[in-house]
Amino acid sequence: MTLRPFQLERFYAEHEFSVPLQLSASDCETLSVGELLETVGASPPDLLDLRLGYTETRGAPSLREAIAEHYPGRGAQDVLVGNSPQELIYLAVHALVEPGDRVVVMRPCYASLEEVARSRGAEVIPWTARREGDVWRFDLDELEELLRTPTRLLVTNVPHNPTGFLPSPAEWERLGRLVEASGARWFSDEMYHRLERSPGDALAPAASLVQGAVSLWGLSKSFGLPGLRLGWLVSADADLLTRAEVHKDYLSICANGVSEALGERALRAAGTLLDRSRARIRANADLMAAFTERHQDHVTWTPPQGGPVSLATLTHESAEAHSARIRSEAGVLLVPSTLFGLEDRHLRIGLGRAEFPRALESWGQALTDSR
Ligand SMILES: Cc1ncc(COP(=O)(O)O)c(C=O)c1O
Repeated sequence: MTLRPFQLERFYAEHEFSVPLQLSASDCETLSVGELLETVGASPPDLLDLRLGYTETRGAPSLREAIAEHYPGRGAQDVLVGNSPQELIYLAVHALVEPGDRVVVMRPCYASLEEVARSRGAEVIPWTARREGDVWRFDLDELEELLRTPTRLLVTNVPHNPTGFLPSPAEWERLGRLVEASGARWFSDEMYHRLERSPGDALAPAASLVQGAVSLWGLSKSFGLPGLRLGWLVSADADLLTRAEVHKDYLSICANGVSEALGERALRAAGTLLDRSRARIRANADLMAAFTERHQDHVTWTPPQGGPVSLATLTHESAEAHSARIRSEAGVLLVPSTLFGLEDRHLRIGLGRAEFPRALESWGQALTDSR
């Protein structure tokens, strides 16, 4: 079966670099190379000596060690580095799923989390979000029911894109126990890990919680470094990582050395970079709350429980029509909910960017002008 076009990525391919202001971005504000080096206490000459040869397929040992420090109970041997989180979703799903397998996936979701399994010939069963006002929740009793039927794989993503859902630590542990009891495998996309409202809300990575579970994280969102295209899988299942590594020989083979060198330094300064991203999300969330108060006749919104994104709801206009209008009238890019297969009335709000205040002002101006 072939992969269907990734509608959200097609939308960004068309608009991301031509519309001036982003209001729906899922990443956090990035840094220049100079700013990154300064933040991590490195100097440019350190990088100028870097040799630009191939790198190790698994990822440089020192990089894998820096990654493993974020996973209690796991070591460098449990890490596979990839040339983008997106590549790693592809590799992990191919290593875990055979045609005909039953795969339970949170829906809505970042499309590759279900589409890769579908294209592999799996039967994809949604674990569907329930909406209460502007808060979206995934019900664990419902998951328990879904996992009563023999299931090969559960795919989760928390903090969740696009709803901002984050389970409590007790719910997360229950989820882990449900997966273990069901005999299913668990692929946990943790791309927004450590962007919880306060650092104490961070959940244990799945790979540390459940034997054989697979965690995905990378530098794109929490660290604000998507251009480095660096991600990693962590799992105690050595065979699984080997299967993914063997498949990777047909994709990127190895990550690029510049990204590995910068990425390792970023990981060693994780505290500073993650604090910076969280502070930005908090400040922009306050602005967005004030904005929705002013424009409540048009739009309602609740901040994410974790991560930089959540969904706002339009009171009367279609999300697609509104997104197109605000793009042309205000030069602001808003992602409509139809790109996540949802009803045409929500917009993804991304709180991670420095341009957020300006973008919000332009959106507000367009709303006022249209009254
Ligand atoms: C939940 C989730 N997983 C994976 C990815 C892919 O990350 P990247 O684009 O850095 O490969 C994204 C990107 O938006 C995402 O939202």
